[in-house]
Amino acid sequence: MQKITEELITWYQDNKRDLPWRHTKNPYYIWISEIMLQQTRVEAVKEYYARFIKKLPTLKDLADISEDELLKLWEGLGYYSRVRNMQKTAKKLIESGKDNLPNTKDELLSLPGIGEYTAGAILSISYNIPTLAIDGNVYRVIGRVYEIEESISKPATYKVYSKILEKLLPKENASDFTQSFMDLGSLICTPKNPKCIICPLNKKCGVYKKNTQELYPVKDKKKEQKIEERVVYIYSYKNKYAIQKRKEKGLLASLYEFPNTLESTSLIDIENDLLEKKVPYQSVLEIGEAKHVFSHKIWYMKGYLIELKNPFGDFLWVTKEELQNKYSIPSAFSYFYDYIMNR
Ligand code: ADE
Repeated sequence: MQKITEELITWYQDNKRDLPWRHTKNPYYIWISEIMLQQTRVEAVKEYYARFIKKLPTLKDLADISEDELLKLWEGLGYYSRVRNMQKTAKKLIESGKDNLPNTKDELLSLPGIGEYTAGAILSISYNIPTLAIDGNVYRVIGRVYEIEESISKPATYKVYSKILEKLLPKENASDFTQSFMDLGSLICTPKNPKCIICPLNKKCGVYKKNTQELYPVKDKKKEQKIEERVVYIYSYKNKYAIQKRKEKGLLASLYEFPNTLESTSLIDIENDLLEKKVPYQSVLEIGEAKHVFSHKIWYMKGYLIELKNPFGDFLWVTKEELQNKYSIPSAFSYFYDYIMNR
């Protein structure tokens, strides 16, 4: 075994975090934790993970749940296409007579939503099969130790890293090897102010003495996010509120939202518009502004509460209770959701 591998595994065994998904080797549970961890901090995942496996303890349960219920269970985690893909995978496996995830890379890669990283994590963590699982932690640790100058934003760089990692990957204990990067990357080799003094790899680390930690891993500059101004309409009629289902494809697909449009308007514009469309309203009130940052765009939203004399349009009219328990409103709208809840 390479010295670095030995250092990593020993350090992990002495310092690993006690996390809920580390009390099992069940591939279904490891898969759930990995998908959640791709988008959310460990502390926040704990609660979602516990709730998810309690409600859906087996792959079959995931295959059978309704989409709306599933999205409700995922509410707040974002990237809803991931959980939809999980259900597609569950259905595909159950239909072909399986009751858990397969243990070969080819089979895993053929399933919706499972790429190199997730396949590697499942194979190494739950089956202990030597396979690489290269995530941001691995890029940071290896990028620093070996001072890799190629940008991790370029797909070709994956090979540079995997070549080094293949040499470090042990035949036994792949599970600890994979997870050692996750803990070293979160506890010691952090993006800012890494704790190099107590790092088990410091003697071998290229950046340690030079103090160039924050230059690695090398990345391309981020693209600027597109800015969109939106008007959010909170239509209310007799303690009910109008929501609508978003399109099946694209941003926040199939989730529910408050009606909104891509424009910027004033209270007067809104009232004129309502009069023009002959919508019978009682009052229009400005209720505040909110911002939501997606990975590739930013919404600046301005909200209006419109109390109606009669309902109109193709909306679903729902109570506060239904909003809370039945429909998934993405967190982009949480300012307006909270406004309603606190009325
Ligand atoms: N980040 C990604 N996967 C993880 C895991 N299994 N444990 C801790 N952090 C992680």
